[in-house]
Amino acid sequence: MSNELQHIAIIMDGNGRWAKSRGLPRSAGHKQGAETLRKIAESAADMGLKYLTVYAFSTENWQRPQEEVDYLMGLLRQYLKSELKELQEHGARICFVGERNMLDADIVAQMAKIEADTVDNDKFTLCIALSYGSRQEIVAAVKNIAQAVKSGKNDIADINEKLISDSLYTKNIPDPDLVIRTSGEQRISNYLLWQIAYSELFFTKTLWPDFTVDELKSIINEYQSRERRYGKV
Ligand code: FPP
Repeated sequence: MSNELQHIAIIMDGNGRWAKSRGLPRSAGHKQGAETLRKIAESAADMGLKYLTVYAFSTENWQRPQEEVDYLMGLLRQYLKSELKELQEHGARICFVGERNMLDADIVAQMAKIEADTVDNDKFTLCIALSYGSRQEIVAAVKNIAQAVKSGKNDIADINEKLISDSLYTKNIPDPDLVIRTSGEQRISNYLLWQIAYSELFFTKTLWPDFTVDELKSIINEYQSRERRYGKV
């Protein structure tokens, strides 16, 4: 089985600790983290990777102090205007997965616009998980499927893995081959639970703001040397 790598999913963790270790406010860590994301997304596209999905804000993150939530939303507004626009100019497709009803209307409108403007770009896709929680995503999918059965559009016999995959926010994106979590935590934290059934997992102690393209390359090298068997011998 070849280890073709087309999709990397990243849990960008450790911004707060990065800032704390420098005596800076947590916001400084998020700012530097946003800069790391720009570099990693650009080089992933240059390396020929097809999909990069990043966890920018979880449904649980709404419970952070309002000041931090506001800062992250401000960063996102800025990101939509500058970095994401730049990626768009380089031919990237940008999409978002998560619960949009929690977000401010101006942000949702900008997200919808950049998605629509880049929908035909097929070389590289940056997917941003925002206000995202995997269990909530699965609940929403189950409700949609139940509704389709109730209305007679689908039969119970039609429910299979493909229908479930196609009912998730990530429906147009293949499952991740590799998941990377920075900052030393070894958990999945409600990220893409259905989609990572067969993904290779990689944990690094590096805090996200310190994560580099070189480290990404060395993780990819290790991934290439692992053998994926999908339960077979
Ligand atoms: C986790 O670090 C990181 C986040 C909750 C936010 C991730 C956001 C970015 C990398 C910036 C790019 C984002 C946007 C909106 C474009 P943490 O704060 O949990 O760090 P800690 O565990 O060290 O406290």
